[in-house]
Amino acid sequence: MNKKTIIANWKMNKSLAKSINFAKNLIKNYYETDNNIVICPSSICIHDVLKIFSDTNISVGAQNCFWADRGAYTGEISAEMLHEIGVEYVILGHSERRTYLSETNEIINKKILNSLENNLKVILCIGEKTRQNNNINSIFTDIEECLKSVPKNSFNDIIVAYEPVWAIGSGVSLDPENANIICENIQEFVENKYDFCNIKTIYGGSLNPENSKNFLNQPKIDGILVGNASLDLNKFIKIISK
Ligand code: 13P
Repeated sequence: MNKKTIIANWKMNKSLAKSINFAKNLIKNYYETDNNIVICPSSICIHDVLKIFSDTNISVGAQNCFWADRGAYTGEISAEMLHEIGVEYVILGHSERRTYLSETNEIINKKILNSLENNLKVILCIGEKTRQNNNINSIFTDIEECLKSVPKNSFNDIIVAYEPVWAIGSGVSLDPENANIICENIQEFVENKYDFCNIKTIYGGSLNPENSKNFLNQPKIDGILVGNASLDLNKFIKIISK
């Protein structure tokens, strides 16, 4: 099996004490896997978590960043700042930010361009809102708008996270075979549109220790983005273990 990327999106759930505790226990209980593991804590916890993982092959990601390097942007954190402290990944375009903070594809595009310039790997989230709305063309439009002006040599640093919005936090996931087809469609779209083969595509939405292997075994699914189940150490260890 190819190396897969397993990403934990802790969202706004773990305090500093809880983040540190989880990170230390993950290392203690963790046995090597060939997969890439990425933990995305809240921004105020990133620095401490990075220090704990410094001698491991576990990477750290941010859940957001701003589109400029620095300036009068009260409350924001830049990709440049994240990269300086050792962050490798940033989640952009998550549906919760689109919903609660009105992030548009235009805003996400500016964040993506700046993150790539600052050598962060981008986890771009896209996905249909309702189960009925399974129009793949709306996903292609989102990808096109979010990736506007991205240079071809940066596509290696982009992971497209297909997260059907209805599956997030609902306890109902898409079935793995259909998720595999959508990931394949996304790869084909990117190949035709940008002449870039095999862009990394991952799935997210109501993953748990029971269903995650079925997704990881799909040929076109390069990894998974886990919300709720990544908050529980035992569940997460089951997910990342072979
Ligand atoms: P859940 O795994 O809780 O459904 O969340 C998925 C998600 O939004 C990851 O970014």
